[in-house]
Amino acid sequence: MPHLVARIGLAPGETDPDALYEVIPQRHTNRGPYELDRPVPKDALEAMARMADDDIRLLLFTEEPQRSRFAEAVVAATEAIVADHEMVRDSQRWIRSTREAVAKHRDGPTLDAAGLSPLITALAKVLPPPSAERGHRLWLEATREVQVATAPAFGFLAVRNLDDRAHALRAGRLWQRLHLYATTRGLAMHPVNQPVELADRERQLGRAPEAARRLAALTESAAWRPSFAFRMGYPLRDAALSPRRALADVVL
Ligand SMILES: Cc1cc2nc3c(=O)[nH]c(=O)nc-3n(C[C@H](O)[C@H](O)[C@H](O)COP(=O)(O)O)c2cc1C
Repeated sequence: MPHLVARIGLAPGETDPDALYEVIPQRHTNRGPYELDRPVPKDALEAMARMADDDIRLLLFTEEPQRSRFAEAVVAATEAIVADHEMVRDSQRWIRSTREAVAKHRDGPTLDAAGLSPLITALAKVLPPPSAERGHRLWLEATREVQVATAPAFGFLAVRNLDDRAHALRAGRLWQRLHLYATTRGLAMHPVNQPVELADRERQLGRAPEAARRLAALTESAAWRPSFAFRMGYPLRDAALSPRRALADVVL
């Protein structure tokens, strides 16, 4: 069911010089390995913290043992999602594993943007696409062995009320700004929302809030609820380009 969340008017004109605007074409999710031993500079973390506000908090995890606990929560949530047949089936609908599917939808996760090495990407393109179950098991493996294993920093965007749509939208806007800022600094980012999705899934099914409790233990707060989770660091490989729709397809 569509909801009107914003009206955006576009008109031809000059743009003000803006570092974040300049890097829009370069900003891409990077699902590959990062340099674990190269920390995110303190001034970059501070600049990012200043971009948050009283409604949307940015919580950063760069020190042990918090960093490892965050990584464990992402892996545990990925395991739970991979074991949930309905979640696997629903996320499979978004996966674009053939050239035809990418051309048709111009959205969703693609093989190119999966963060695999160039050799494995080339091999995967000539093999038949994996089943939903096998694809999700490979995702769990990449999450555990590469994505959380190589991230020097993790973070949450947290809100007071997960059902507040205006705050959800603002969290998304902050994520884009943080990602653009990271791009200006040569840093890579990648959402790893599995713990947040699992807490949503528990709410949806009316289950005991174990994932939510795990999140609260990480944030040390029951009042601030994570609505977005990510990893960050200096990338070992450039991010691959993800599909974009033509302007004419998205402007009314
Ligand atoms: C709300 C939201 C949550 C997302 N969560 C994840 C995630 O957990 N893992 C992931 O790999 N991509 C996730 N994505 C997708 C990427 O962040 C990205 O939007 C998409 O792959 C397009 O790639 P781009 O960064 O190159 O524009 C999410 C996107 C949105 C809007």
